[in-house]
Amino acid sequence: MLIRPEEPRDHKSIHQLTKRAFVPMSFSDGKEAPLIDMLRDSGDLRISLVAEIGGKVAGHVAFSPVTIDGKHDGWFGLGPISVEPELQKQGIGRALVEAGLKLLEESGARGCVLTGDPAIYSRFGFRSDGRLTYGRTDPREVQWVAFNGEAPIGVLNFAAAFGPAP
Ligand SMILES: CC(C)(COP(=O)(O)OP(=O)(O)OC[C@H]1O[C@@H](n2cnc3c(N)ncnc32)[C@H](O)[C@@H]1OP(=O)(O)O)[C@@H](O)C(=O)NCCC(=O)NCCS
Repeated sequence: MLIRPEEPRDHKSIHQLTKRAFVPMSFSDGKEAPLIDMLRDSGDLRISLVAEIGGKVAGHVAFSPVTIDGKHDGWFGLGPISVEPELQKQGIGRALVEAGLKLLEESGARGCVLTGDPAIYSRFGFRSDGRLTYGRTDPREVQWVAFNGEAPIGVLNFAAAFGPAP
């Protein structure tokens, strides 16, 4: 498996893979694939990594800037993330997350946030303490990794392409 930054030739594969990965998810609004295209078009797709296996895109993760209390202060959001359905639970997601967090940390970011199932993301080192909120989302699902140990506190918002907080 090769983890590498996306290239223009990957755009279509990323879109299609994201669609396939999210279709079975009950929480999906079906907008994850176009969201990646919108992030790219608006310049907010700061890190976009693919996991390539046998020349095919088997996984993808996106990172974009977020604001906390209206300010972008070195925090980035993880997502969407997708792994080809028949290749899930084999470590591809972990490899993508770890590579992305390493790049973010090396670039001087303060940390990374996401919303999602704590059962999954606690395994990647994400945690929550209720002090970072995102609309009406259960605060336990609003999770973060802080590179310098300083927890994010306040009201989170993702890049414009994500739309308003739920
Ligand atoms: C979420 C997703 C990207 C994880 O990718 P993956 O390649 O299957 O994950 P990995 O095999 O690297 O697993 C990483 C860790 O997460 C855990 N994990 C993965 N899927 C899980 C699930 N559904 N429930 C609980 N834990 C899960 C694994 O057990 C593993 O932990 P461990 O190494 O400590 O055992 C993948 O399942 C996916 O594409 N899902 C559909 C799209 C989606 O839901 N995206 C996220 C939206 S919030």
